[in-house]
Amino acid sequence: MARIATTHAREVLDSRGRPTVEVEIRTACGKSGRAIAPSGASTGKHEAVERRDGDRHWYAGLGVRGAVEAVNTLLSALISGMDPDDQVAIDNAMIAADGTPNKGRLGANAILAVSMAAAVTAAELQEVELYEHLHQLYLQKNPRARIIVPLPMVNMISGGLHAGGNLDFQDFLIYPEGCVSYREALERIVRVYNSLGRVLGKHGETHALVGDEGGYGPSLPTNETAIERIMEAIEVAGLKPGDDVSIALDVASSHFYDADTNSYRLREWHKAPRHAEEMIVFLAGLVEKYPIRSIEDGLAEDDWSGWRSLNAALGRKIQLVGDDLFTTQVGRIEKGIREQSANAVLIKLNQVGTVSETFDALAMAAGHGFRAVVSARSGETEDTFIADLATASGCGQIKIGSVARSERLAKYNRLLRIEDHLGGPGVALFQRRVPAG
Ligand code: PGA
Ligand code: ZN
Repeated sequence: MARIATTHAREVLDSRGRPTVEVEIRTACGKSGRAIAPSGASTGKHEAVERRDGDRHWYAGLGVRGAVEAVNTLLSALISGMDPDDQVAIDNAMIAADGTPNKGRLGANAILAVSMAAAVTAAELQEVELYEHLHQLYLQKNPRARIIVPLPMVNMISGGLHAGGNLDFQDFLIYPEGCVSYREALERIVRVYNSLGRVLGKHGETHALVGDEGGYGPSLPTNETAIERIMEAIEVAGLKPGDDVSIALDVASSHFYDADTNSYRLREWHKAPRHAEEMIVFLAGLVEKYPIRSIEDGLAEDDWSGWRSLNAALGRKIQLVGDDLFTTQVGRIEKGIREQSANAVLIKLNQVGTVSETFDALAMAAGHGFRAVVSARSGETEDTFIADLATASGCGQIKIGSVARSERLAKYNRLLRIEDHLGGPGVALFQRRVPAG
């Protein structure tokens, strides 16, 4: 059995130029694996906590030298001598060493980078692709899982906390529909993205600016205008909205929800307080008018009663994804399943902080007919782990951001490589449509 000899962390930068944790594990037999923790901006209140130094003389307080130190001393000693293939034992040891419910003591950024690096090292040791190793791990939790190249849900226009424009909704995205391969799906997405640039230009809307995830960040009068522009872009690209390309939204509504008045305050409503029921009518109106297949965080992270009504109104028609609502935590997903609050969950490794717990969340969803979408964060790096994770779990969907900015393209390109390994177009299992509910 190969054993972990050294675990070394360093501070590196993410796509926003903010520090994050990179970890490199080496075994006694000379194999190694490296991984980098991502970082969110519109973080949910119930997420595992990333540890930052708060020293204003070092990256304006955003440094992660404390988290790096935690890896290089405590965690390194803790997992030294363990088998990198023993993912659950490694993750459980770190969870116990941290001792807090949100990994705030050692830092979820420290713990996750070690957890991911262990999986990468184990794949190297076995001389298999990362997705193959992750698939073997996941089968222990969900024996029915299959390897499937995921359908990408791709950001076109950014708003909310990810762009300087005036849109309240965070992401306006598209799905390619019915493509026979991922390779073909990606070409179609890029076609619409380029066409959207021309459409925004034609309307005199700035399209040079891109948001944190590479989507256009134009100044538009309403959220619906963003959908209109995407519809136009699909048609200009010679495609049929609904049949060839459909639309998805990440409303990320927690950031314009006012807990004191239990209301949602959109700029296009002049920030007048409106209750969940009015948000639901607003969203249902958009679903009626446009080929929208999925809405994420249509309501706020703790508005459980609102979510139940939202799911009752739209859950049979479209996918309703909980991101801030579930924060990849099994307990919250279980509550959502029990209360029928949604029908899908967004999966982000660093919301929960270990690979094993991420698999628990995926298995919980799969076991109860909930869909799952593996997702990147707005702060990403060249690390492509999530491309392998989505494929390995067979969850069928991935959300990476737009087709601009290399931290996003690294993952889209990794999926091209994976599809190629699996046998190429027409042979590989590719999720061709948003899974039917
Ligand atoms: P975040 O955004 O990484 O800033 O949280 C991604 C999302 O909300 O899906
Ligand atoms: Zn989200």
